[in-house]
Amino acid sequence: MDTKQLILITGGTSVTSIGSEKMTDNLLAANGGIGFELARQLLADPKKHVLLGSRSIEKGENALKELQSQQPKGAVEVIQVDVASEDSVAAAAKEIENRHGRLDALVNNAGIVGGTGTNAQQLTACLQTNAVGAQLMGDYFAPLLRKSTGTPRIINVSSGAGSITVRLDRSHPRAAMKATAYRVSKAAMNMVGACQCSEFGGEGFKIFIYGPGYTVSNLSDMNKAELGAKPTSEGTAPMVAMLNGERDEDAEKYIEYGHDSFPW
Ligand SMILES: NC(=O)c1ccc[n+]([C@@H]2O[C@H](COP(=O)([O-])OP(=O)(O)OC[C@H]3O[C@@H](n4cnc5c(N)ncnc54)[C@H](OP(=O)(O)O)[C@@H]3O)[C@@H](O)[C@H]2O)c1
Repeated sequence: MDTKQLILITGGTSVTSIGSEKMTDNLLAANGGIGFELARQLLADPKKHVLLGSRSIEKGENALKELQSQQPKGAVEVIQVDVASEDSVAAAAKEIENRHGRLDALVNNAGIVGGTGTNAQQLTACLQTNAVGAQLMGDYFAPLLRKSTGTPRIINVSSGAGSITVRLDRSHPRAAMKATAYRVSKAAMNMVGACQCSEFGGEGFKIFIYGPGYTVSNLSDMNKAELGAKPTSEGTAPMVAMLNGERDEDAEKYIEYGHDSFPW
């Protein structure tokens, strides 16, 4: 039996190939998204086995190649999962059950900002991926998490943009950022996380709702270092500690990178 901690990360494949010649930690971290960077950090530990969730097989294989070229100490494989599709989530759960028979941790990282279309179209798309996706993943993977050999863990990667208290503060530094669809969907995701706490917390699950803060990634044109976004590695690191059981006091709260406390 695989004794490594088995961790599924959705949306773990956001990475731009930078060529193995020039590959350094900083360069790789600056070219990937949060899920990919989380996988990279976890794989420095031989006791981790990362299931890299990707809605595209091709992107999954590319990301796998990038990670393997770093000679990871842990194990890594790709699993196809589109969190916006119930059929795809159900198939992924079946596949992981067949391959491993259990799961130790789930990171609901996949997310979108809304893209183009009317406000209603953007909101529908954001809700489907960011909130319904987190709900579906929790529902379908809870039976496998219950079979964990350790403490079952879920991290919902949310955003400070989903805070209702912050949205009501017109003097907040990011008050000018509209992003209504994204904000509403992350507030909804926070409630999905709170409901998971209430549903699974009593069984011993550790559930985290975590906002990584403004970070370099491929999320939007705004997620660039030159515009002030911080390195991907920084916003990602607290999740490694959460998966290692080093921040269990932060379970069942909204945690924002760089803040001791942050309002829902
Ligand atoms: N970067 C920030 O400043 C920031 C701040 C707060 C919160 N967050 C949150 O952090 C998480 C990761 O985002 P990121 O910043 O790393 O952006 P990113 O680079 O765009 O990564 C997002 C990932 O989600 C995947 N994805 C989108 N829809 C999906 C679906 N239906 N099924 C499966 N995967 C899907 C994307 O896959 P494709 O490559 O196929 O598109 C991509 O791999 C998101 O939940 C985001 O809201 C980010």
